[in-house]
Amino acid sequence: PFKIGSLVNLDLAIFRDGFHADLSETFLIRDQRIKESEISQDQNQDQLDLLKVSYDALKLAASNIKPGVFYRDLGTIIDNFVTSKGHSVTKNYCGHGTGIHFHTVPIIPHYANNKAIGIMKQGHIFTIEPMINSGLNNGGSKILSDKWTVVTRNGAKSVQFEHTFLVTETG
Ligand code: CO
Repeated sequence: PFKIGSLVNLDLAIFRDGFHADLSETFLIRDQRIKESEISQDQNQDQLDLLKVSYDALKLAASNIKPGVFYRDLGTIIDNFVTSKGHSVTKNYCGHGTGIHFHTVPIIPHYANNKAIGIMKQGHIFTIEPMINSGLNNGGSKILSDKWTVVTRNGAKSVQFEHTFLVTETG
């Protein structure tokens, strides 16, 4: 069962008329007695901060999408922002092209100084999905023996937002 303070990620993949899209957002399970207007009194400010930084990182990266931009530059934009807020980016998981295929090129790392190949062109469809870990030093991540669960090595909390984007002429 959900507990107050838990972070829960819902990841939805949609397939329609031959095309895939991919979306995930992370939610904080909050005490419903605390109204939205009293959010500063919520006991889970660390989780709220991590949610905001992660979502803002995605929005910042999205605002840089337009024809001619190097895919590798998105990682630098995200990493610099997240690090400036005292958190860190997971390196093991990347955004990806989607559309006719679900997971395809381009590969979009979310960390600085990556060597991702490609330049955005009108009509490209891809995801950005930075997975942000609390704190600057958490030793990275590892996969548990169930071969599915990914955890930070030091138990730091983690948040992810993923949206699917289409490059248009203007952005
Ligand atoms: Co995805």
